[in-house]
Amino acid sequence: MGSCEYRLLSLFPGTTSHQDYPTDRPLRIPSTDQVLYNGVMKIPKRLKPLVEDGLIDEVITQLMSGKEASVFMVRCGAKTRCAKVYKEATNRSFKKAATYQEGRKVRNSRRARAMEKGSRYGRRQQEETWQNAELDALYKVSAVGVRVPETYGCVNGVLLMELITDEEGYVAPRLGDVSMTPEQAIEDHGVMMQYIARMLCAGIVHGDLSEFNVLVDQYGPVIIDLPQAVDASSNNNAEEMFHRDVNKIRDYYGLFAPELLSTRYASEIWSVYSEGGLSPETILTGRFQDDTEEADVDAVMEEIKAVYAEEQERQAYLRSLEEDQPEPY
Ligand SMILES: Nc1ncnc2c1ncn2[C@@H]1O[C@H](COP(=O)(O)OP(=O)(O)OP(=O)(O)O)[C@@H](O)[C@H]1O
Ligand SMILES: [Mg+2]
Repeated sequence: MGSCEYRLLSLFPGTTSHQDYPTDRPLRIPSTDQVLYNGVMKIPKRLKPLVEDGLIDEVITQLMSGKEASVFMVRCGAKTRCAKVYKEATNRSFKKAATYQEGRKVRNSRRARAMEKGSRYGRRQQEETWQNAELDALYKVSAVGVRVPETYGCVNGVLLMELITDEEGYVAPRLGDVSMTPEQAIEDHGVMMQYIARMLCAGIVHGDLSEFNVLVDQYGPVIIDLPQAVDASSNNNAEEMFHRDVNKIRDYYGLFAPELLSTRYASEIWSVYSEGGLSPETILTGRFQDDTEEADVDAVMEEIKAVYAEEQERQAYLRSLEEDQPEPY
């Protein structure tokens, strides 16, 4: 990968193409490795157990408080890390949890039953499953070569992970906060399509992928925020979410390289996946031919009739076996 030429949109107001970007967001937060830090913030309640257990030495600053979590910059020994504190279900604005959780496997059956019943124990189990889902997804996608923050465990609803920083040691900006040259956009879009295809190889659809859940460091894009990741094979909404994810990323890079807007990676990747042919080495082209052949209704009807006739025959055979049975005494 060549040297990256990103610019922070907020530092170059003339290039801003994003209306939703909140200007009050603390953008350029230096890591402790880089500047002398004079003062430590009051430890938030949810981080206290981790400080008491020695997992965190200092809470440096809050990076942001989002819909599902608050994110802090913390010091663990000599390292600056990131602590993501999940909000309790009641504080989460995540309305479509059921859509995402469909098909998610809960191995322990007592746990699964409790979650269905909605008891207090069940709600706690559901909460833990939600919190561990991001850790699980991060492990799985990192194992297939997708760049995500390295993780250091999830304790009491707090995910400890690597803090992604830029070349100068500042907290890395989100993709939606940077502008870039057309060449850089094409290169990074290609990397993201590979990452998305690899995630699908691992059976995962991110489910909330956009320029706001991708960070950019000196080596390129890093995917974050996976608690809602869905199981590609068992979730009925997976295909739709997959298309949405891919197209949002295409549309963002397409702002800088408009030729990307006509690519069809979502359809291409999903079709190779559905045919069982997707592997991390699959070469992607962005081209896809719609199946324009008209459905052959007569052939489908013939097929249905044949299956029906076969079933009738099977039933008749079963009945004949029953008739041959000797009468019980
Ligand atoms: N590992 C990390 N390194 C650096 N910054 C991070 C990291 N993880 C999260 N952040 C910062 O914290 C923000 C919120 O993180 P994340 O998207 O995971 O949480 P969220 O609550 O789901 O946010 P949102 O609802 O806005 O999507 C990110 O946009 C990013 O700026
Ligand atoms: Mg996010």
